[in-house]
Amino acid sequence: MQVNFSKKIQVQAPAKVNLYLRVVGRRSDGFHELDTLFEAIDAHDTLTFSEMPSGIRLSTDHSTLPTGPKNLIYRAADLLRSTCGIRTGVRIHLKKTLPVAAGLGGGSSDAAITLLALNGLWKLQLSERKLLGLAAQLGSDIPFFILQKSFAIGQGRGEVLRPVPQTQLKLWHVLVTPRLHVLAKDVYAHLHKNPSWLKAPQADARMLAATVQKGDAAGLAPLMFNTLEFPVLSMHPTLGKIKSDLLQAGADTAIVSGSGPTVFGLVRSRREAQVLAAKIRKKHPSKRVTIASTATF
Ligand code: C5P
Repeated sequence: MQVNFSKKIQVQAPAKVNLYLRVVGRRSDGFHELDTLFEAIDAHDTLTFSEMPSGIRLSTDHSTLPTGPKNLIYRAADLLRSTCGIRTGVRIHLKKTLPVAAGLGGGSSDAAITLLALNGLWKLQLSERKLLGLAAQLGSDIPFFILQKSFAIGQGRGEVLRPVPQTQLKLWHVLVTPRLHVLAKDVYAHLHKNPSWLKAPQADARMLAATVQKGDAAGLAPLMFNTLEFPVLSMHPTLGKIKSDLLQAGADTAIVSGSGPTVFGLVRSRREAQVLAAKIRKKHPSKRVTIASTATF
């Protein structure tokens, strides 16, 4: 049989922020139990997939990212091939726009999109449930991006997900990413230096999800919280300065996303986001400042 290797698909991999992230405790497997609210945002990487006779070949326009098995995209393609006994290969190109190791889930989203795209390209017809299971094997944040939903509560390692039902809410963010390399595992390790950092806030992810569902953008700001902000601010005090500058310049609230180092401020409109971003760029000319709103699917 003649196989046609001309098929090519291009897909966008969105970023995420955590509007709320509480570390509930440490588990016996070394991971931490979370209660979090993910939000997909419309900043994205772009991946192109084309079939080839055998193997996995990954390329990228990014100067330092690995393109072998250390890259989550490669690992996702490899896992799908071995799970499904696929012989044909794939060529993948990553146009990297999202900052790397920034708390925005870029690498996790790239991996999830790889599972979704190859499920289509190779006509595997794996169910969402199966894809979520494969995603969880690759990393804690990856299942959220399989859902293709704007908002979802994440529990367990972050892989036990409950999407927030149909919502029209569109939030506006100003994202500030300093040029720091922050590894999630270091931030989680630092968390245990101070037991008071583990105390529970008033709100939980369910309360934020209900607020999102009501379309109440103003109600979100006072509920937002991130346990990981305590250790990451103590490791990198410059993040505290970004946070206070965002608040002072008019953000409704500002918190670190995930394990950082991105700090984001929430505002009510594109116009407000543009004004806030301009003020922050003036104060922090060497930092990456971008505007993003809630992603829709
Ligand atoms: O799952 P992932 O590879 O993204 O996790 C990276 C690191 O972050 C883990 O090795 C672990 O140190 C930490 N982590 C954690 N608890 C979670 C998620 C991540 O301790 N729920």
